[in-house]
Amino acid sequence: MVQNTRFEVRSSGGGVGAFVEGLDLSLGVSDDARDMLRAALGDHGVLFFRGQDLSPEAHLAFAERFGAINVNRFFKAVDGHPGIAEVRKEPDQQANIGGGWHTDHSYDEAPALGSILVARETPASGGDTLFANMYTAYETLSDGLKATLDGLSAVHSSRHVFGANSRHKQEGRDFGDRFGNEAAATQDAVHPIVIRHPISGRKALYVNPGFTLRVDGWTEAESAPLLGMLYAHAARPEHTYRFQWAPGSIAFWDNRATWHYAVNDYHGARRLMHRITIEGERVAA
Ligand code: SIN
Repeated sequence: MVQNTRFEVRSSGGGVGAFVEGLDLSLGVSDDARDMLRAALGDHGVLFFRGQDLSPEAHLAFAERFGAINVNRFFKAVDGHPGIAEVRKEPDQQANIGGGWHTDHSYDEAPALGSILVARETPASGGDTLFANMYTAYETLSDGLKATLDGLSAVHSSRHVFGANSRHKQEGRDFGDRFGNEAAATQDAVHPIVIRHPISGRKALYVNPGFTLRVDGWTEAESAPLLGMLYAHAARPEHTYRFQWAPGSIAFWDNRATWHYAVNDYHGARRLMHRITIEGERVAA
């Protein structure tokens, strides 16, 4: 594994993320390389790799270097690999998975650390993923608003996204066989609106349009103006980076430091990604 320990981490040049160059992930990573990647993930929020030839087994082995695998409750799994969730859109489907700003698993008491998404099949054009930086989203708020947010928590839930009465069903968006197990969508969690990132120690904004319902102790109507302002601020272009995929590309993101958004601009083409999610820990202010 000696030949697989020298690599470079180069900032994306956008508002979030870095490219990792010089690693062949199919060979596995040494403890030193793993520790450096973990630190880089904490610093940059998302790590991008290009041109990787990773079997499902090697994908799982790489993910396990960072923690236990979270077996997704709601996504269809890759055949023979319950630990790998399929993120798929067929040419005849309209709805895509992840087509709005969100961070995964904020509805869990101990939200997942992050995910490693491998591109298997990509459209000839389109199907990019946007990422946003929740460190700079927090740091660029006024001191007055930071002081207010520091004392607040928010309620997150899986029910309105994966449950029997989900918003996408009410809006007529059909995910067919791609989501299931809606009776398991019972998770609600309360987390501080500003967390201390478990790896970097930096403060990060921890609310997201996908799963956050309201400020704890406030009604949804009372919460909407504040959350709406924070969402618009966090999604400003200077906090974001747009990643273009090709088969063999990988994005390894940290849910506590970033949001992501899968752009749905490739109707009529197929896009197939394999996602492994890694368990995390309780988040705290
Ligand atoms: C997701 O939200 O996990 C999917 C992201 C993507 O397909 O780009």
